[in-house]
Amino acid sequence: MPRPVIAIDGPAASGKGTLARKVAAAMGYALLDTGALYRGVALTMIRAGVDLGDAEAATATARALTAADIDRLTHDPDLRLDTTASGASRVSAVPGVRQALLDFQRDFAANPPGGLPGAVLDGRDIGTVICPNAPVKLFVTASVTVRAQRRFAELQGRGENPDFADVLADMQARDDRDTKRAVAPLVPASDAVIIDNSDMTPQQVLDAALDVVRGRI
Ligand code: C5P
Repeated sequence: MPRPVIAIDGPAASGKGTLARKVAAAMGYALLDTGALYRGVALTMIRAGVDLGDAEAATATARALTAADIDRLTHDPDLRLDTTASGASRVSAVPGVRQALLDFQRDFAANPPGGLPGAVLDGRDIGTVICPNAPVKLFVTASVTVRAQRRFAELQGRGENPDFADVLADMQARDDRDTKRAVAPLVPASDAVIIDNSDMTPQQVLDAALDVVRGRI
C-alpha cells in the first residue's frame, strides 16, 4: 500500500510551512520542507562564490547534494536569510535543478523516514509535479499585502528595521518569478482545496486543513 501523502503548496509567507508542521504532528507523519532543498542549493553556491545565474553550476550543485548535506543545511541558520530565499527562487527556475531534486522528494514521500505512516510535503509544485496522485492537496494562500505584512512583522521581530515598501516589492518579485517560470510554476493543482487565510486565524486554518485531510485519508 502506498503511504498517504499530504501535498501543501502555496506562495511565500502564506503560512504553508507552519500549517505543514501542525498537520504532520497531528497525523504523526514525516515532514519535508521542500523549499529547504532549493535554499540549500542556493546557499551552497553563495558560499562557494558561484554565480547564481550559472544554470550548469546550479544543476551540478543540486545533483551533488546528499541526504546528509540536506540534513545539515536544514539546521543552518543562513538557510532562512532573504538572500538565500531569493537565490532559491532563481535556481529553482533551472530545469536541471528541479529534476535533480525530484527523486529525493518522491523517495521521501514513498518511504517516509522513521517508518512513519505517511508524509507531508510543502512547497510550490508538490500537488502538480512531485506527487500528482497525493490523496490530499491543499493550496494555502493569502493576499500579497497580508503576506508582506507577516514578513515585515517577522523581520521586525528579529530586530531588523525593514522598509515595508521593500518587503512588499520583494514579495511581488518572488511571486512573479515563481508563478511565471516555464518549469513547474506555482499554480494550484486542479484538484487542490484552496485555503485563503488572509482573514483566518491559525486555528481556523488548521481546522480547515484537518477537515479536508480526515475526509480523504
Ligand atoms: O518555501 P521557501 O520560501 O523556502 O522557498 C524558497 C524558494 O524555493 C521559492 O521562492 C521557490 O522559488 C522555490 N521552491 C520551488 N519549489 C518548491 C519549493 C520551493 O520552486 N517545491
